[in-house]
Amino acid sequence: MSIQPTEVRSNVRPSVRQWIRNGIEVGVFSDADDASRSAANEIATLIRQRAAEGQRCVLGLATGSTPVRVYRELIRLHREEDLSMQNVVTFNLDEYFPIQPNAAQSYVRFMNEQLFDHVDIRRENVHIPDGTVSIESVSEYCHQYESRIEQLGGIDIQLLGIGRTGHIGFNEPGSEQSSTTRLVRLSEITRVDAANDFGGIDNVPRMAITMGVGTILRSRRIRLLAFGEHKSAIVDRAVQGAISHTVPATYLHDHRNVEFLLDEPAASMLTLPETETLAR
Ligand code: PGA
Repeated sequence: MSIQPTEVRSNVRPSVRQWIRNGIEVGVFSDADDASRSAANEIATLIRQRAAEGQRCVLGLATGSTPVRVYRELIRLHREEDLSMQNVVTFNLDEYFPIQPNAAQSYVRFMNEQLFDHVDIRRENVHIPDGTVSIESVSEYCHQYESRIEQLGGIDIQLLGIGRTGHIGFNEPGSEQSSTTRLVRLSEITRVDAANDFGGIDNVPRMAITMGVGTILRSRRIRLLAFGEHKSAIVDRAVQGAISHTVPATYLHDHRNVEFLLDEPAASMLTLPETETLAR
């Protein structure tokens, strides 16, 4: 497994404990802020390295409450530490379908408010699945989204959250390991979890466009964040369970550079191995 050297994270407090289980590097941080700073610092380091080489940096981004602190830290680095995102290209994981981009729950709106409006990214470099394409053209649209990622050299770092179903993106239980960007049906648990945002479950869309599991697995690095006790059971199944379509996050076991960044409550059901400790 290739792991970032310690130096690149030197201005960030390291994880409290770390080990590898089922191919996943698990880092437990003292809190969500520390974990998020670590992820943001790794992203910022790569953006700067690529800029120094005159190259683009391709980021796969996630929505939901989990990555908000990472975006906050990237904004701070932009404002206070001269981080430019001019060489950054982004692809978001998913979007509800159908949805208008200006709807309160749209991921276009979320990304603008949480990150893009506050940094110097070029708008033409931002890609978020379009929740307004017609049902007839959605399959071709998804194919093009997939092609665009490849044309731009593939994703360097993919940020992920994890849903209570074990979904990554909106790849719900039953998703195949080789799946690509496509229209999917949301699980009832996911719709219940989104009900507050939509003012009741009846208003939650039944479908979404999501990058596939295969799309995610082609990213060069994957960083999954999970915070809070309510994530502990699914983190346990994702890290310690066998690879299975019933928990799509278990497909990450097969990736060569995947790290879970957790706070203590999210890690509380994991058993710390006695022998598998990892030195960075
Ligand atoms: P959350 O969602 O960050 O709002 O917990 C995570 C997910 O469903 O992937």
